[in-house]
Amino acid sequence: MNRRLAVLISGRGSNLQSIIDAIGTRELDATIAVVVSNRSDAPGLLRAREAGIEALCLDHRAYPDRTTYDTAIVELLKARDVGLVCLAGFMRLVREPLLQAFPNAILNIHPSLLPAFPGVDAQAQALVHGVKVSGATVHLVTGELDNGPIIAQAAVPVLDDDTRDSLAARILIEEHKLYPEAIRTMLDGGWRVEGRRFLLRQP
Ligand code: GRF
Repeated sequence: MNRRLAVLISGRGSNLQSIIDAIGTRELDATIAVVVSNRSDAPGLLRAREAGIEALCLDHRAYPDRTTYDTAIVELLKARDVGLVCLAGFMRLVREPLLQAFPNAILNIHPSLLPAFPGVDAQAQALVHGVKVSGATVHLVTGELDNGPIIAQAAVPVLDDDTRDSLAARILIEEHKLYPEAIRTMLDGGWRVEGRRFLLRQP
């Protein structure tokens, strides 16, 4: 598989950093071809530039609709020969142009054990619901929000004295391990998707 990644962000970029670091330590054999943010003030853009990675802002407000915006992203990624698109805190729904251009090649990370608590502030949702275990999920992206075949998950306990932030911090530690591992799984190949199931080849 083409090991050139694009990482799409909207903010902090700590998951982007974990991917940069995993490539740096050679745990992950890949290249980040480009980082794209829809917000010019995303701190993740600075992380990318500090690592010598091309980092661009494509402001969605400059485009008339989501489809036009996604078409612009596709052109940008194709021009850089990207093989795998990693959403890392990218706060935009992905539309057909991107999905068609990268079939089964767009990943997202979400801070809950999907299908529990899709959407915004999954950590607060988990706390309010009273679950005893939550975690992180990396999944293939489909047209539906936080709903695609699950590549990998990691669980963490929810403690009685947790706040939204303490739970988010515990989950984030797992996210930073899980995302590079899931990307490696994708790039190593030998997987298939059957219905909703992401399956690895039998040894
Ligand atoms: C993470 O919690 C991720 O799971 C969610 O958005 C957050 C992004 O954080 N999709 P960061 O920008 O990677 O630090």
